[in-house]
Amino acid sequence: MRIAVPLERTPGEQRVALVPDNVARLVKAGATVIVEQGAGVRAGASDDDYVKAGAELAPDAATATRGATIVAKVQRPLAEEVALIPEGGILVSLVQAHTAGALLDALNARRVTVLALERVPRITRAQSMDVLSSQATVAGYKAVLLAANALPRLMPALTTAAGSLKPANAFILGAGVAGLQAIATARRLGAIVSAFDVRAAAREQVQSLGAKFVGNELVSPGAEVAGGYAREQGADEQQRTLAAIGAVLPQMDLVISTAAIPGRAAPRLITADMVKTMKPGSVIVDISAETGGNCELTQPGETIIAHGVQVMGPLNLPSTMPVHASQMFGRNMLTFVQHLMDKEGQLTLDLADEITGAMAVAHDGQRR
Ligand code: NAI
Repeated sequence: MRIAVPLERTPGEQRVALVPDNVARLVKAGATVIVEQGAGVRAGASDDDYVKAGAELAPDAATATRGATIVAKVQRPLAEEVALIPEGGILVSLVQAHTAGALLDALNARRVTVLALERVPRITRAQSMDVLSSQATVAGYKAVLLAANALPRLMPALTTAAGSLKPANAFILGAGVAGLQAIATARRLGAIVSAFDVRAAAREQVQSLGAKFVGNELVSPGAEVAGGYAREQGADEQQRTLAAIGAVLPQMDLVISTAAIPGRAAPRLITADMVKTMKPGSVIVDISAETGGNCELTQPGETIIAHGVQVMGPLNLPSTMPVHASQMFGRNMLTFVQHLMDKEGQLTLDLADEITGAMAVAHDGQRR
């Protein structure tokens, strides 16, 4: 079994799909791993580190992927990378299949089996393969650092000879994986943290991290669907949610918004009028910018200032911390590739399998 790790060519992407430690395990299991030169440098892994781990180095992507059983990537291939995936081979990467029509057609023309990492089912057995969770952890952490850096004030309470400083008030909207990490990070920096989510399970998690849960009356058992995800709210529910959020925003110094509905646009939870009620100098970091944003004013990839409030819409935050993001992504990838290997280190592609089947978005020339 040959596993290729090409350098990521998507602009701004600094992660790598497997780190040297992952390579060593795959080589031990009998696989050959070919890494394109420089693939891990931005993630802190040198070519030498890969060679020491047992990888073969390739001078370019075409050499790395030639004859590969599996091409392991972070981002889906760019149009010019499609020809690098061997005909009849397997691609494992993030795909965002709902926006990848032309790409999937091109891969189907090569009869590539496409296994989309964002489709890892949220079952206990697959937790260690779940890149959405591991990367959301990085995003939630980094979002708070961006807010801290943009704030015109300190986060913690301080008592000094020059007087006392009050702690910052932080509000975390959406308490999934990213939101919970944002709560923990804001607490570590000394902020007073409150949070809101529609799922009942999130309330206990928020409270167990020492944050205040806002909008108790709005959570309901019916807000959660299979896999622990939230469902889209009805118009009435949405109005009540906006009112609950609107009531707390004027006290906040920083807002980290993470609310998302899988496969849909992010719910709109902060209107332009609500931003007007916030303190001048306060900051919103909207990490749902990739799917349209929770704030009406969010511009994906931009920071705007409205009514003295900075609204940031950062994209691909995990890539800004490529060392640990790749360490976790690589572990997820390793566990999934091991799932595709039998005891002799040979490929077993079983589309009837609960995990592999859920991830297969193209196989044998057909979309699935
Ligand atoms: P996500 O990224 O899809 O959404 C982020 C958060 O936004 C969620 O907590 C969601 O409830 C919330 N949200 C959606 N609409 C909202 C609204 N109108 N107002 C406020 N909040 C709203 O979710 P994420 O972080 O990927 O995971 C959500 C849950 O999935 C986890 O807390 C957990 O229960 C479950 N999960 C299970 C895993 C497993 O068993 N392997 C792994 C990871 C998550």
